[in-house]
Amino acid sequence: SAHLHVLSQRVPLPGPDLRQCLKGSPCCLQVPDDGTEAVKFERNASIPVRERLSAKTALQSSEYVKKLAMAYRKMRELQHNDPEDPRGMEQQRLVHCVYCSGGLAYGREYDVHNNWFFLPWHRMYLYFHERILAAMVGDPDFRLVFWSWDSRSGREFPAAFRRPSSPLFDRNRNDNDWNLRALVSNATRREMLRTTIVDADTHELFLGRPLGSEQGGLIETGSHNAIHAAVGRQTPPFHNMGNLSWAAADPVFFAHHANVDRLWWVWLRLPTATTTRRCNPPDHTWRCSRFVFYDENAVLTSISVKDVLETEQNLRYTYEDVENDWLPSRE
Ligand code: C2O
Repeated sequence: SAHLHVLSQRVPLPGPDLRQCLKGSPCCLQVPDDGTEAVKFERNASIPVRERLSAKTALQSSEYVKKLAMAYRKMRELQHNDPEDPRGMEQQRLVHCVYCSGGLAYGREYDVHNNWFFLPWHRMYLYFHERILAAMVGDPDFRLVFWSWDSRSGREFPAAFRRPSSPLFDRNRNDNDWNLRALVSNATRREMLRTTIVDADTHELFLGRPLGSEQGGLIETGSHNAIHAAVGRQTPPFHNMGNLSWAAADPVFFAHHANVDRLWWVWLRLPTATTTRRCNPPDHTWRCSRFVFYDENAVLTSISVKDVLETEQNLRYTYEDVENDWLPSRE
């Protein structure tokens, strides 16, 4: 049964068949029942490699803010004009919903929280979301922005997402979201990040344990969850950011996750004491597992974990180097 399969994942996940969405799930995507098989992801070297910039840097450019807002405006318009288009805002939210909350849609083997699929799955999701946004504004150079809530200089809730008239705004947020920066003291923040990034020096600790273990990595269960809880409404049902099924309805979700993704990228580059530390899981069951997404042309695409382990060549992005002030200072 599906349940046993989860407890002993011996083979890589093949990727769900989107037509088999569990009855009664609130997450099912609209999928044409035309028998189309997913095409395999291939890296697209024609996409220019560009840096994803921090909110602090990127949002100083009014040109970038305009473009980002326009991309989300178009994504919302598409939802309105063609609710079944997988590139519309609501369908994009459902892609996240499909893969979360205890297997609401395709069974628990496709739950990408609280296990080792958390980081690679969200990297895939961001990649396709970014390609769709780029297509919306007709700029292949377009990149997501990251909200570097881990550092003293970047932790403030990005102002461009806070203007009620902007497509980047979401009214389902904690009314006090501008107080985020005051949530923890600087010393507590640095201590937390040190524990969840620097001290989490094995992939079991940082990325989490295999499917079925219910042991997410420290970056997920620590800062990642804390930001969701702080941005979402503080009362049930905690929409949007505070509720995994709804979180991706808020554009700030993607700026938040770009930072989680960046911290994985940073983690792998931290100096290591031994070669066995700070590496990704070597397991075939992890590396060869697949998930499916719609790309910027609404083509169903199957992508594996190993496709996303190298961001620059394969996914065509790097990250701006920003201060990681939680790093222990070198003696
Ligand atoms: Cu899929 Cu921040 O959660």
